[in-house]
Amino acid sequence: MKQDFTDFHASVGAHDDQPVNPSGNVPLQQAIDHRRRGLLKGGLGLAGIAFLGGGIAGARAATRGDSLLGFEGIPTQLDPHFDRVEVAPGYRARVFFSWGDPVHADAPEWQPDASDDWQAQLRQAGDNHDGMHFFPFPDAPDSRGLLAINHEYVNPTLHPEGIAVVDGRRPLEQVRKEQAAHGLSVIEVRKDMQGEWQRVMDSPYNRRISGMTPMAIAGPLAGHAAMQTMDDPEGKRVLGTLNNCSSGFTPWGTYLVCEENWHNYFVNHDADDLAARISHNRYGIAGSGMSKLYGWGTVDPRFDATPQAGQPHGGFVNEPHRFGWVVEVDPFDPQSAPVKRTAFGRYCRECSVLSLGEDGRMAFYSGDDTKGEYVYKFVPSGRFVPGADAANRRLLDEGTLYVARFDADGSGQWLALVHGEHGLTAENGFPSQAEVLLNARAAADRAGATPMDRPEWVAVHPETREVYVTLTNNDVRGTKQPLDKANPRPNNLHGQILRWQEEGGDPTATRFLWEVFLLAGERRGSRDAQGQPVAANLIGTIDGDCFSSPDGLAFDRDGRLWIETDFDDDESVMQAMGTNQLLCADPKTREVRRFLVGPRGCEITGITWSPDYRAMWINVQHPGLSFPASDGQSRPRSSTVLITKDDGGVMGS
Ligand code: FEO
Ligand code: CA
Ligand code: CA
Ligand code: CA
Repeated sequence: MKQDFTDFHASVGAHDDQPVNPSGNVPLQQAIDHRRRGLLKGGLGLAGIAFLGGGIAGARAATRGDSLLGFEGIPTQLDPHFDRVEVAPGYRARVFFSWGDPVHADAPEWQPDASDDWQAQLRQAGDNHDGMHFFPFPDAPDSRGLLAINHEYVNPTLHPEGIAVVDGRRPLEQVRKEQAAHGLSVIEVRKDMQGEWQRVMDSPYNRRISGMTPMAIAGPLAGHAAMQTMDDPEGKRVLGTLNNCSSGFTPWGTYLVCEENWHNYFVNHDADDLAARISHNRYGIAGSGMSKLYGWGTVDPRFDATPQAGQPHGGFVNEPHRFGWVVEVDPFDPQSAPVKRTAFGRYCRECSVLSLGEDGRMAFYSGDDTKGEYVYKFVPSGRFVPGADAANRRLLDEGTLYVARFDADGSGQWLALVHGEHGLTAENGFPSQAEVLLNARAAADRAGATPMDRPEWVAVHPETREVYVTLTNNDVRGTKQPLDKANPRPNNLHGQILRWQEEGGDPTATRFLWEVFLLAGERRGSRDAQGQPVAANLIGTIDGDCFSSPDGLAFDRDGRLWIETDFDDDESVMQAMGTNQLLCADPKTREVRRFLVGPRGCEITGITWSPDYRAMWINVQHPGLSFPASDGQSRPRSSTVLITKDDGGVMGS
């Protein structure tokens, strides 16, 4: 069998964030119109910006003595063979849940040579742990919960000898195992008699959801012609969720799984059709000759989206329409079918993060992590009512999808992606609201959204409701995509974090004020290994410990901002950054301290806490050497890691 291990990995990596935005959208910084000038003079005036600590000028005035950061920062790890997790002094890290670990008590033990078959994999932890959330049991919130953990994609280490391609086709057994390793795990966790968190192996809540699990389609696209396939003529039922990167949760205790780079699983061999079909090409679905990605369509017809004349519903040409959504999972009901919520719009969604207003109105924020894509929010029409569970779930099927425009004067606008507005009309290819949601990227192009430097996670401050987003990096900024105030660096290899404040602190507002919280990168005056000054585009504005490529982002209950990184630690330009890491920032002082460094080759992602914030789980995704065995020999495994403080205290305090 031809082993195509490296090519596969490189090609997936190379394709999952390639720019496909043809809009040429330029933010309106050179053309502030009179209406917006009026807005600025009114209640939302720039003089009225009251970010925590008073915005950029005020931030430095806050003293270190007030810092939220109670731990000692640790250095970067420059050792090319570093193969462990290291945490700040006074903290402990313990591997908790690795790829292949049995999810059910009677599931097979993981085989170190990766010889488990796909049926075994369906009952074991999937690969590439990413977004994650702890759901407490109401009667014992600080000692018993369910951890929901996404499995984003697969590494070639999934198979004994890597990814195989035989005569241009993928072996079906490998494809099935890859599908089984996607999705998510739900595992029960509980404190033992010694107060240590452990898994509950025989819990009835333990569950794997995979790339094959049947799920429902709900909301405006349910049953729509664009969702019908020869396997599902009704367009209401789909198999599996794929490329679940980050996530979110609802106030009623369900998990929101987000489908990110789902386009990589599909191919459309009809070049003319692909060129004309915006629901494929605007998402970067591969045509013939460029499909070295997963190649599932070579043996599983569902992933060959070439239109098939004569087949009902064109065969599987609509199958890619059934991915790119938010998927709601009820971790407390292991029998329930997950539901794809189409009112949220279809794009390559990194996350779906709640902001809950005092009156029960909500927004769910999302990044579309591709170079030059957008930041969105979905505002349900109704309000959350505690206890009204059945009614609350219907809230996710009706509402308004918005996309963000970041203007040069520090104001911003949420543009409603609503049929009939912003040119979203039949003449322009949007015959109904269903098509607006299906082709949300194209709708956002037309509405005039601001193309961003790969928006990843969003985090909402627990008290002020200020919203932060990581823009991880964008090496075509300044060449293929124009510079602007929110995306200000050419060849932006290190990324930035923005923050904004909705008008009146209202999650549903349509106007906001924004600023750059920090530009990631090296310290001013840094020199490279040859002693030469570091290029200007690599210099950041970080006060404290430097990092590159912010990705994961979350607030704890005290308002510490936890930042996780995802850069290629193999690249020469990243050498000063060490390995990927978890840092913590004080939003008031803007000080950043490094809390954890991970093994070579990994990204650090996923973060959640027990409700008392005395236990924290993070994910080490795609480690490169032999973590977690760290013996220099074993197959590396993506793993969830538990972190506690030696004195039993709150994380970061
Ligand atoms: Fe899966 Fe955008 O990270
Ligand atoms: Ca990832
Ligand atoms: Ca990510
Ligand atoms: Ca990333």
